[in-house]
Amino acid sequence: MIARKHLRRPIHPLYCLNAPVAVLSALALLSLAGAAQARSGQDKFTRETARAKAILAKMTLDEKIGQLIQVEHGSLKDSKDVDKYHVGSVFGGGGSGPRDYTLKGWTEMAQGFATTSIGTRLGVPIVYGTDALHGNNNVPGATIFPHNIGLGATRDPALVRKVARATAEEVRATGINWSFAPCVTVPQDYHWGRVYEGYGQDPALVAQMGAAAVEGLQGNNLAGETSVLACVKHFAADGGTDGGHDQGDAKIDEATLRRVHLPGFAAAIQAGAGTIMPSFSSWNGVKCSGHKHLLTDILKKDMGFEGFLISDWNAIDELGGDYKKDAEISLNAGMDMFMITDKYQQFFDNVKALVAEGAVPQSRIDDAVLRILRVKLAMGMMEKKYTVAVSPAVQKTFGSAAHRQIARQAVRESLVLLKNDRQTLPIAKTIKRIHVCGRGGDDVGMQCGGWTITWQGQMGDVPGGTSILNAIKKSVSPATAVTYSKDGTGAEGASLGIVVVGEIPYAEGVGDRTDLALPQEDRDAIANLKKANIPIVVVLLSGRPMILGDILAQSDAVVAAWLPGTEGQGVTDVLFGDYKPTGKLSFPWPRAMSQIPLHYDDKAADPLFPYGFGLGYHG
Ligand code: GLC
Repeated sequence: MIARKHLRRPIHPLYCLNAPVAVLSALALLSLAGAAQARSGQDKFTRETARAKAILAKMTLDEKIGQLIQVEHGSLKDSKDVDKYHVGSVFGGGGSGPRDYTLKGWTEMAQGFATTSIGTRLGVPIVYGTDALHGNNNVPGATIFPHNIGLGATRDPALVRKVARATAEEVRATGINWSFAPCVTVPQDYHWGRVYEGYGQDPALVAQMGAAAVEGLQGNNLAGETSVLACVKHFAADGGTDGGHDQGDAKIDEATLRRVHLPGFAAAIQAGAGTIMPSFSSWNGVKCSGHKHLLTDILKKDMGFEGFLISDWNAIDELGGDYKKDAEISLNAGMDMFMITDKYQQFFDNVKALVAEGAVPQSRIDDAVLRILRVKLAMGMMEKKYTVAVSPAVQKTFGSAAHRQIARQAVRESLVLLKNDRQTLPIAKTIKRIHVCGRGGDDVGMQCGGWTITWQGQMGDVPGGTSILNAIKKSVSPATAVTYSKDGTGAEGASLGIVVVGEIPYAEGVGDRTDLALPQEDRDAIANLKKANIPIVVVLLSGRPMILGDILAQSDAVVAAWLPGTEGQGVTDVLFGDYKPTGKLSFPWPRAMSQIPLHYDDKAADPLFPYGFGLGYHG
């Protein structure tokens, strides 16, 4: 059941769619001295203060309030409302986007909004935001990279930076210049449906990877034609809620919050992140979106964040008051821009009234608008030469072979070899016959997981993708026979069986689970394959460690492939030995549900596979 607040626009008809260094600097940033250090990464925004103040001084209250509003693309009741309410930002993605759901359609849509806003009285352009979490995953034909759980297993921040850079190019290829990424969550409990959006459980690893992702997205020059404004999320302790409930309550003291959940943000701030998204979840019973100590005292003052805060999807609706009170609480807590669907006119009128009544000081509105203007100035959006036109060179990178090679390398480095009895792997390319089976054997949608074309992702084809079955066919010798059955039958006489199982795509709370055992359909496929009496290689496509149970004993080799994305040949590069596995678990692997929550630094825990585990090939 998808919670109402999560109900997105109907899914588009067409797609019904460094560690010690990083942690020390991140921890240092949490001290006052750190705030100064953070400012080094934030000075791209503070140095725009004077220019921003000059624009602010010319703005009417209506124009100021408009800058605080980010409207969901599909919720605009009338395209004229963008002007009427002086809207400062629009967002789409997760199923909401242009009617023509192609590269061309996305580009024309994004350019349309920016062009109209450049024509307004003060010419402050609209910034368009989207969830490009693992590539420009909203647009068919984009390169889809591994989700963060796989990138964490690579332990390769330089690669994470390259992935983010390629993602930025494919986002700018659509004329969009803001992505709601990276997520620097530190998931504590695998019941949660967003574990795969985390790089791992070690705050130092998360800090290292999060900073690398910010650097890759924003580039060396935030005003560059391939730079994309980063949005670090979700602040804070979204992965620390009781029982792993999505949007639940993190019942932890401030010392734990700072030690576990803030280093990723501190490192990202120092790396120059321009926006941060407060979490839907609560901290000790208070919603983060209305938590003044968290957003103003800790994030803006202590940690020296000089960009702006963007709320999550209608997140202020949950602050407990009526809609006007919600806006008052969140604005006064330190929220700067508000992600809103259908109630944007109401929000506009409410804030105007709140200022008139003195419930929200004009100074708070001015501070929020100043922060937003500084970021837009740093993005080069106020320059005379600013254009929303996409250069052909940038558009050519979209889904390019070069990007797919980066994605393939990321897949190779993300795979973790958990078991390899009798040197079952690597497989000889001249093997006589391989039988491939399982729900994920020939399903790029399952390889990609959630946030792919649509919000929830979907089984089945993803344009431009290579399934594991097709990758196997491309890898073996011409004399090798490759057969396939989804249910594992028909393997008799094969030399070896490869069964691809795991989780079907999901996003956010839809992925909250009480049981992480493999589904019966997967267990049946393995049992059918077993009847052929041949070596069995299990490839697991999942957004988190799963309970393997007796599957482990029944298999000769087990590879955790996480959610690798479109480039299935990254998986076969490891299976056939073109790349020796180097991936290491960034989350400890539980034996049973009773071990969850399982902490990477709990010496008393007895996981099936510990944090950092990963076999290689001998020789
Ligand atoms: C969500 C998610 C957030 C995402 C936003 C916009 O509900 O929590 O990660 O960026 O909506 O799609």
